[in-house]
Amino acid sequence: MRAAVIANAGIRNLSVVDLPDPEPGPGEVLVRVRAVTLNYRDLLTVEGGYGSRQRTENLIPVSDGAGEVVATGGGVTRFATGDRVVANFFQRWQAGEPDEVGLHSGLGGLIDGMACELRVLPENGLCHTPAHLTDAEAAALPCAGLTAWSAVFDQGRIKPGDQLLTQGSGGVSVFALQFAKLAGAEVIATSSSDAKLQRLRELGANHLINYADTPEWARPAREISGGRGLDLVVEVGGARTLEQSVKAVRLGGAVMLVGVLSGANHDFRLPLVVTRKIRLEGVTCGSYEQFQAMLRAVEHNGLKPALDDRRFQLDELAAALEHLRAGAHFGKVVIEI
Ligand SMILES: NC(=O)c1ccc[n+]([C@@H]2O[C@H](COP(=O)([O-])OP(=O)(O)OC[C@H]3O[C@@H](n4cnc5c(N)ncnc54)[C@H](OP(=O)(O)O)[C@@H]3O)[C@@H](O)[C@H]2O)c1
Repeated sequence: MRAAVIANAGIRNLSVVDLPDPEPGPGEVLVRVRAVTLNYRDLLTVEGGYGSRQRTENLIPVSDGAGEVVATGGGVTRFATGDRVVANFFQRWQAGEPDEVGLHSGLGGLIDGMACELRVLPENGLCHTPAHLTDAEAAALPCAGLTAWSAVFDQGRIKPGDQLLTQGSGGVSVFALQFAKLAGAEVIATSSSDAKLQRLRELGANHLINYADTPEWARPAREISGGRGLDLVVEVGGARTLEQSVKAVRLGGAVMLVGVLSGANHDFRLPLVVTRKIRLEGVTCGSYEQFQAMLRAVEHNGLKPALDDRRFQLDELAAALEHLRAGAHFGKVVIEI
């Protein structure tokens, strides 16, 4: 089979090589991967950005993939040849709070990912693909989708009528917008691009702010809320946006810390959090149980992930990662395999 591999840290060390076809052991499933999609994490991983929390030698990168079952090992009961499946991000976080083993089991980190033609995974690391989705759409769901699901529902506790702000038009933020709309919430979407803001409106955003024109967007966001402040901000910006997020939420509101796209370190006035009883909480994707709950909601509501217009092939993985780095995409960047 063909697989994308980094021989060492660095995008220039990425190549497509021939590897022996894997075979499923007891409790395992052999998947023919049809599509993978990119997360910002995949770019960081290829560059060795996670240090000791990832492998850099001979790693198959990319966490999110979907395809079909081509063989099953002994004892597998939930999948049969021909089933369409999607892999959960954390292979060993089944339910409840994670432990160290669970949090080190992200695909394409310490263990191989999905940027290959054939992948063997344990039965309890796979779910059935919702029937209305293509393989590319299903491959959009594991990391960005489940992170947004956790941020909006399980940790963000969004209810109908709540007001929420999303930052930018990347994978996590677009899913957060879509899930918030499923819940009947009102969404303020931000982006650095007016053209992307229009696409966010088409996905249901109620209010739009261009954060490049208005870097101090907490004030207009509060004005939209009638001065009360928002119930929730899904924070992907990090250093340069966290203060705006904290200022934008209401007393007792929540900021879900998902990403650090604008930097990881920042001087911050803690009393803004303490004296206003803000809930500042880290989000780390989610468990297999949460993934199944999310997939049920996606299927029942016919939710379609937003995919970027450009398509890449496996031997164009480096170009696809550069496309992601440039921020030229909208929604999920797809590599067809
Ligand atoms: N904690 C977790 O479990 C988890 C899971 C997934 C991702 N993440 C993290 O979440 C972040 C987003 O991931 P992703 O895969 O959604 O990324 P992505 O698809 O690459 O999204 C990038 C988009 O974010 C927007 N953006 C960039 N800088 C911004 C800023 N300063 N303020 C507001 N928006 C900004 C831009 O949108 P516009 O072009 O519209 O301006 C950019 O196109 C990353 O830091 C990633 O590592 C964490």
